[in-house]
Amino acid sequence: MPVIARRTLLSALACTAAGPLHATDKTQPGITLRFSHVVAEETPKGLAANRFKVLVEQRSGGRIGVQVFPNAQLYGDHDEMQALQLGAVDMVAPSLSKFGRIGLPEFELFDLPFLFDDLTAVRRITQGQLGQKLLQGLSRQGLVGLGFFDNGFKQMSANRPLLEPKDFVNLRMRVQASRVIAAQMRALGARPVTLAFSETRHALAAGVVDGTENPVSNFWTQAMHEVQSDLSLTDHGYLGYAVVTNQRLWHSLAKPDRELINKALQEALSFANQIADTQNDQALAALRGTGTTRVHTLKPDQRARLRTAVQPVQQQLASRIGAGWLRSLQEALGQA
Ligand code: LMR
Repeated sequence: MPVIARRTLLSALACTAAGPLHATDKTQPGITLRFSHVVAEETPKGLAANRFKVLVEQRSGGRIGVQVFPNAQLYGDHDEMQALQLGAVDMVAPSLSKFGRIGLPEFELFDLPFLFDDLTAVRRITQGQLGQKLLQGLSRQGLVGLGFFDNGFKQMSANRPLLEPKDFVNLRMRVQASRVIAAQMRALGARPVTLAFSETRHALAAGVVDGTENPVSNFWTQAMHEVQSDLSLTDHGYLGYAVVTNQRLWHSLAKPDRELINKALQEALSFANQIADTQNDQALAALRGTGTTRVHTLKPDQRARLRTAVQPVQQQLASRIGAGWLRSLQEALGQA
């Protein structure tokens, strides 16, 4: 899979050398948390990060500040996790598809196509024991997982309708760095190209890739409708996030501060879960309003054929995700 890197870690190292903004020195009362993410502010993640900032700053009387860096301003997909591990930023919220590349391939179970019927099914994992176990695994990378939240279900776009497996044949489809998503695209006959989110619109405009998948809020806020003539409402997979911080930072905070931060975050995440669907619906309405992109709704038999085409993915990727994780997943979803 070709990988086009956006930035190098040099910028992360430069920040670390300059010293992180958060105060670990107990004599310094002020703390500033830097929260970096890759999407626009008017998305479920952007709104959650901003809500978290407001809650933390209000409740700490301004003693704890949160600086939010949206749109990959500071770090993109290829370096945000390392920046976090190095302490150059304090919080990130990558999509669950981006944890495999840092040695946690079990997170890619969320990418299995047609796995979840709805968000209630997603909750059985993210709010259940399996979700807790996934977050605990982040300690293997020196990280602390603070919680999950939704964007929603992904749709497919290209300069043609994508309604049947044959429509995907030989298309270069931008994917996140997830082997499960890459296998899904191959199962449809497409060629997966791993690209950072921040590079995607440009790559679509330049014809480096032909199409992509994302929930509509991401598609709309990156103005991908300007460079894709067709959006097919496939709802074929889930896109969600985990908020992570660095163990060193987390354990350096006083317990009351940790509690304040965690409570504000949980409220911001449940707010994001409440508005995520609406954000995607509003984005779809706005997109329809522009008239630049034709929107296709799949017939049940078309969706069934896509589902059949990608069925082998679970078997193919079982050893990467881990048989134990898949068993627990099926039990939690009542599919065992
Ligand atoms: C993507 O890379 O397509 C998404 O993960 C971006 C995001 O964070 O929603």
